[in-house]
Amino acid sequence: MTDTPYASPVAIAEALLSSTRVAVLTGAGMSAESGIPTFRGSRNGLWAEFDPQQLATPAAFRRDPPLVWAWYRWRTALVEQAVPNAGHQAIAQLERLKEGVVVITQNVDDLHERAGSSNVLHLHGSLFEPRCLACARPHPHESAAGPEGAQRQGRTIGPGASTPEAALRVSPPACTHCGGPVRPGVVWFGEGLPAATWNRATRALEDCDALLVVGTSGVVQPAASLPRLVKQRGKPVIEINPDTSEITHGADIHWNTTAAEGLPRIVELLGARHAAGGPT
Ligand code: OAD
Repeated sequence: MTDTPYASPVAIAEALLSSTRVAVLTGAGMSAESGIPTFRGSRNGLWAEFDPQQLATPAAFRRDPPLVWAWYRWRTALVEQAVPNAGHQAIAQLERLKEGVVVITQNVDDLHERAGSSNVLHLHGSLFEPRCLACARPHPHESAAGPEGAQRQGRTIGPGASTPEAALRVSPPACTHCGGPVRPGVVWFGEGLPAATWNRATRALEDCDALLVVGTSGVVQPAASLPRLVKQRGKPVIEINPDTSEITHGADIHWNTTAAEGLPRIVELLGARHAAGGPT
């Protein structure tokens, strides 16, 4: 990793300028400034408050489907009420400056898409693609942010819920094909990643000239292994994170800033070079 003085937006923009294909790997920190809680690394991290074994495993859903469904409805409501931040928008703008930008995200929200990114790979699935537990057929997404929305659920599932017993339960809908329970379309602990998405992500990383890693602690595999695919080909790995992470020691550049602060500055510098007729 380079020293802090090198970790400037100018250095990052220079690295991106000399790259033809840029890939971006994002984690929960990417959406933190949109008001979506991260999992770790802060006092408000979801896994400090909730037990993933009770909420984010296939066994948890089989044991108590309404508890798990309600928790994901609460998270869906938070996302539906959130808006993309300046970091999401900067990544979308990058597509206008660089060919073939691919965004590989561990996030289950849709904020990259709403900001305008057109090539987004969701390694951990999506809150907006529920499917049947039994037959795996997709089930139409229904908005979770009704009039009461996250506020009501937040009091009982969010910070206000002290125990799972006290938490709100919402029965999942039944599959219209087979009647089975509908489950969130996310990847739970103990499950494999969607193979086609994983293959597209690894191909993109085997093909890119630079990787921007934004807002991930780098502790959850296999996503955490992805920067190595870029590093081992001698291409730059650039990290944007206000803290150090498991990615930091292997990164060529670590800029100690947030997604919404740092990414717009980088893209602004690239845009200025573009406007001046330099290589992009
Ligand atoms: P984590 O919550 O583990 O890490 C969030 C990272 O974002 C930390 O390194 C923070 O320092 C950083 N961060 C916080 N605020 C930021 C900001 N404003 N800008 C940039 N960075 C910021 O989230 P992930 O690494 O995404 O999986 O977690 C990986 C997976 O673990 C998730 O996809 C989820 C979770 O369990 C499943 O649910 C399967």
